[in-house]
Amino acid sequence: MPEFKTLGQFIIEKQADFPYAKGELSRLLRDIGIAAKIVNREVNKAGLMDILGNSGSINIQGESQQKLDIYANEQFISALRCGGECCIVASEENENIIPLNDVISQHAKYIVAIDPLDGSSNIDVNVAVGTIFSIYHRVSQNGPATLEDVLQCGTQQVAAGYIIYGSSTMLVYTTGKGVNGFTLDPSIGEFCLSHPNMQIPKDGLIYSINEGNYVHFPKGVKQYIKYCQVEDKATNRPYTSRYIGSMVADLHRNLIKGGIFIYPVTASAPNGKLRLVYECNPMAFVIEQAGGRATNGKDRILDLEVNKLHQRSPIFIGSEKMVMRAEAFMEEAGVLTFNDIVNL
Ligand code: AHG
Ligand code: MN
Ligand code: MN
Repeated sequence: MPEFKTLGQFIIEKQADFPYAKGELSRLLRDIGIAAKIVNREVNKAGLMDILGNSGSINIQGESQQKLDIYANEQFISALRCGGECCIVASEENENIIPLNDVISQHAKYIVAIDPLDGSSNIDVNVAVGTIFSIYHRVSQNGPATLEDVLQCGTQQVAAGYIIYGSSTMLVYTTGKGVNGFTLDPSIGEFCLSHPNMQIPKDGLIYSINEGNYVHFPKGVKQYIKYCQVEDKATNRPYTSRYIGSMVADLHRNLIKGGIFIYPVTASAPNGKLRLVYECNPMAFVIEQAGGRATNGKDRILDLEVNKLHQRSPIFIGSEKMVMRAEAFMEEAGVLTFNDIVNL
């Protein structure tokens, strides 16, 4: 019989590396895995809503049928609440932090930031979506945890990862000692280690950016795109363009195959679109741990100051050499300026 290792077994094995660990982080990761399986079940049957006869927006229990990103949000919050290892959840779906105030959770030492469903506009068309999570230690000593506990620099992350609900469902995470990927085996309902010690290729041939926004991009980004499209045998150009519209799916592919994902500032999104706390920082942690690079076009994402829960940042992330080259174009053109937008 082939040997396999479940996520639970892997987490316990890793915990043995820390003799004084009490297992709280392990339980927290387990809780995230449980919520992921529940969300996976719903994502997989998303197209069946009509067939199953849940007409309109009312389901069989008489409850409102909820959009999957709200459903996913509730599942993750509920799993974290029940698990008792998290004192605050910060979510894309909630304007304010969500303190978990029950007797056990309020003393828990971890903070979790989540994008419960990333790429949710792709749900209706059966395209891969994801969940992104980021875990921090609580920094306040006494009393209820606060927003300050959430607004930590990305370098302070204890763990981070994502779940991709795709042609198969995978959970990929890091605790700062490399990146490991687990594929959900639906026949046993377990995430099994399938991609140990994931490494992103140092260079790649794929660029991922929403080129529909081209006219609104800064000059450096426009020129980098042109660079990707130029014919040059020595560097295997032109590169391939791939853009799904789910950051998780785009980055997962680039992590495995090599590539760059860019969501820059645009004329209509002057700070970029993606959120620092629960999109950019966790993905930057994963990609760096896999040997890649993540910046805002100039500065390292993980070093950026975090001032607001829903703060946005431009992001250039992926294979190290590709990101560095894109940064060079940005620098040459004058980073993050709009006055230089030209119609190339
Ligand atoms: P979310 O579904 O959590 O709001 O995130 C969508 C994000 C990201 O996943 C994706 O890369 C990006 O938005 C796509 O934006 P554009 O449609 O502007 O390209
Ligand atoms: Mn998102
Ligand atoms: Mn989302």
